[in-house]
Amino acid sequence: MARRPFVAGNWKMHTTLVEARALMKGIREHLSPDLAVDVAVCPPATLLYPFGREVDGTAIKVGAQNVHFEPKGAFTGEISPGMLKAAGCAYVIIGHSERRALFGEGGDFLRKKVIASLSEGLEVIFCVGESLSEREASETMHVVERQMDEVLSSDMDSSRLTVAYEPVWAIGTGRNATPEQAQEVHAFIRGKIGSIFGAEAASNLRIQYGGSVKPGNAAGLMACADVDGALVGGACLVAEDFVSIISAAAASVGG
Ligand code: 13P
Repeated sequence: MARRPFVAGNWKMHTTLVEARALMKGIREHLSPDLAVDVAVCPPATLLYPFGREVDGTAIKVGAQNVHFEPKGAFTGEISPGMLKAAGCAYVIIGHSERRALFGEGGDFLRKKVIASLSEGLEVIFCVGESLSEREASETMHVVERQMDEVLSSDMDSSRLTVAYEPVWAIGTGRNATPEQAQEVHAFIRGKIGSIFGAEAASNLRIQYGGSVKPGNAAGLMACADVDGALVGGACLVAEDFVSIISAAAASVGG
C-alpha cells in the first residue's frame, strides 16, 4: 500500500498573527478537505497556541519549528515538548539546517530533542541534508548517514517519525534537487531506516523532500518512489502555492 503523503509548511520567522490568519484563511479556502494527504503548518512559536486551537478538528495540524529537550527549568527563551503539546502542536521540526548552521545544533543535542519530543507524544520531522561543498565532494550519503546515526536509534518509536531530506544548497535558493537526485538520497535514507528500525518501519516511514519545492516542480518530485511529501519553505507562505503542492502530493498516490 502506498504511504500517505505528508506535506508540511515551515513558515520560519514569518508572519504576525494578523498576517498568519489571512494565510490560514487562504489555505483553508483552497484546500479540499478529502485529499489523502496529511498537512501541517509550522508557524512561529507565538502563533502555536491560537492556531493549535483554531485547527482542532480540521484536516490541518500544527507543528513547531524547534523545541528544547528539558521538561522545564531555567532555560531562558526555550520551550519544552510538554508546552508544545499543551499549545496544540502535533508535530515538531528537529535538526533543520538553519538550526544546525546558525545556532550550532547537532549530534547529541538533537538526539535529546527527538527523544524528549517522542516521549511527550509529539510527531517528529527530523531533517538531514548535505551542503553544496559536501555534495561536490561526493559526501552526500556519508553526511546523511552520519546525521541519522547521531540521532536515531532502534529504541525510538519510528511510527511517529518523519525524515525530511533537505539539501542545504536547495533551501531558499530556487535550485531544487532534481527528482533523480532526490530519489537517490531518499532511497538511501529508506535503506538506512531499515537498518536502524527494520524492514516494516522502512516501508512505512515517510520521507519528505525539502528545498525550493514550488508548484512547478512538486509533481516531478512527488512522483519519485521514495518521496512521500514535502517540507515547504518559501512557497508555503502563498496559500495557492502551498495548496497546489499538497494537490501534487495527493495526485502522486492517485488521490
Ligand atoms: P524553501 O522551500 O524556501 O527552499 O525552504 C525549504 C525549507 O527549509 C523547509 O524547511
